[in-house]
Amino acid sequence: MVPKRDDVRPPPGPVGAAGSHDEPATLHDTHVVLLDGDRVLLRPLKAADAALYPDFLNDVTTDDLRLRFFAPMRALSPEMVDKLTHYDPAHAMAFIAIEENSGRMLGVVRLHDDNSGKNGEFAILVRSQLKGHGLGWMLMKHMIAYAKEKGLENVRGQVLAENSTMLTMCAELGFHVADDPDEKGVRLVTLPLAEVPALVH
Ligand SMILES: CC(C)(COP(=O)(O)OP(=O)(O)OC[C@H]1O[C@@H](n2cnc3c(N)ncnc32)[C@H](O)[C@@H]1OP(=O)(O)O)[C@@H](O)C(=O)NCCC(=O)NCCS
Repeated sequence: MVPKRDDVRPPPGPVGAAGSHDEPATLHDTHVVLLDGDRVLLRPLKAADAALYPDFLNDVTTDDLRLRFFAPMRALSPEMVDKLTHYDPAHAMAFIAIEENSGRMLGVVRLHDDNSGKNGEFAILVRSQLKGHGLGWMLMKHMIAYAKEKGLENVRGQVLAENSTMLTMCAELGFHVADDPDEKGVRLVTLPLAEVPALVH
């Protein structure tokens, strides 16, 4: 059972203690501007953000849910939202994007360590009507910068072969793309963080 915590800052470890000088900069509030000039706050996802999910999910199509979760689904259950918003910050991190004008949730990216603790597996979802405004790119770069600061070796993800937007974006971000030998119709994308400059913002 993943412990419920409001504070998602990681404990002391490779990424440094909360408040210490070596805490990853990506854990602080980060302000970005989308291609349309919309101002967006990126910060770690908190348990209280579950309240923002219903409005967010109202604007996520069933097709985008399928691209994200690899299964047909009309909606996310409250239990699923609860699980997504309660994670162990020692082994996982999630960043939420919030529109500064309205306080609306615009997207989320997450990164879960594998058993070795050397690699992180990401997943990302952006409000469907906002696709193409540059938010996915910014969330990915923020997550990659966090992974780099944390000292992970690789960021990995599974992407449906039909998901050309995501595969193109991953290739542009430097990911290596290969067929998943275990799952037909799925691509594995891998970014060796040694190939990424320290500052990707
Ligand atoms: C895939 C997804 C995350 C992309 O997010 P998005 O906000 O629509 O993407 P962006 O607008 O940031 O990027 C779209 C395009 O702009 C490019 N781009 C955006 N900002 C850029 C920048 N600053 N510099 C260079 N290129 C940029 C991207 O590479 C991409 O290029 P392309 O059109 O040439 O392929 C989003 O469509 C989504 O949530 N899909 C459903 C869920 C999903 O598929 N998740 C992935 C599997 S986990």
